[in-house]
Amino acid sequence: MLSLAIESSCDETSVAVLNNETVLSNVISSQLFHTKYGGVVPEVASREHLKKIVEITEIALKNADIKLSDIKIICATSEPGLIGALLIGLNYGKALSMCLNIPFIPVNHIHAHLYSNFLNNSKISFPFISLIVSGGHTLLILAEEFFKHKIIGKTVDDAAGEAFDKVAKLLGLGYPGGPLIDKYAKSGNENFHKFPESVLKNNEFDFSFSGIKTSVRYFLKDIDFESIKNESLVNDICASFQKAVVNTLFNKTYLAAKKYGVKEISVSGGVSANSYLKSKFNFLSESGYKINFPVLEYSTDNAAMIGLTGYLKYKYSVNKSIFINETLFQNAKAKLDYENF
Ligand code: KG4
Ligand code: ZN
Repeated sequence: MLSLAIESSCDETSVAVLNNETVLSNVISSQLFHTKYGGVVPEVASREHLKKIVEITEIALKNADIKLSDIKIICATSEPGLIGALLIGLNYGKALSMCLNIPFIPVNHIHAHLYSNFLNNSKISFPFISLIVSGGHTLLILAEEFFKHKIIGKTVDDAAGEAFDKVAKLLGLGYPGGPLIDKYAKSGNENFHKFPESVLKNNEFDFSFSGIKTSVRYFLKDIDFESIKNESLVNDICASFQKAVVNTLFNKTYLAAKKYGVKEISVSGGVSANSYLKSKFNFLSESGYKINFPVLEYSTDNAAMIGLTGYLKYKYSVNKSIFINETLFQNAKAKLDYENF
């Protein structure tokens, strides 16, 4: 079954074409100009999605060598995300599904990150512990079967990716901060300074990253960072900060896997692209754990993961007719007839 998927929840306009679970094309247009503002400006992001969405869809269809009329379902991110940005992809997708008279599948962006690992690895088996680490979310989930997920931990303040972005900003590195910190940390000393690793009393699986961000801020003030700033100091701070964040993510995930007696761990979301995080988790393979990471293209926001999740949601839904909103379709048709008249 051919599906067309749209992602527009933040600063990536992405469209993919899939045949069942196989990706035929996955076009991603990143709004790099947000760098100059130090973060994503929601209204500007929405307008850019509006400018790009038709062109990206045409490229995705062309790359897949598929005609729009051959598409059988449309999937689009419905939540969570920047509301203006979401509305562009969501309404464009709904309009396409109404014109083609095919089902429309709204997809939760977090579910899509969870299933992104299945895009390059069909051998993942339930139950598994899923660590979702992105710019907006940090979640520990026990995935019991398709669409049966139990949230066992979440951030009580900043997301892990947000901490990377904010610390990169404090260091004057640019946006998005994660890939830059990852890069500079490679030449730094991770034991240069011990930044705090969060421990929460209420739920041992919850996360907090606002404290570490503040501690970097005070550390920079104490050493008068601006006047002594040099390449090796930046590298050392990046390595020490990254070590503290990754240790927190790793320790809680490992603890959750042990508590729930699960031997398979899946990591996804933008921060899963982090090389230190990957190497830390891969060590667990030696102790009998199966570790899954998405390939780089599917770590950060992309429409392929929306397409796969939408397809799975459709496949496992008992009542598929809920995805065709006939009332909505007839209303729109009546309106068009009236306009023609
Ligand atoms: O999943 P994503 O593309 O968007 C959201 O759903 O939020 O994640 C973006 C986040 C940003 O905060 C970015 O700094 C972070 O992922 N990121 C990284 C790396 N690559 C992207 N963080 C750490 N290391 C990386 N290599
Ligand atoms: Zn995301």
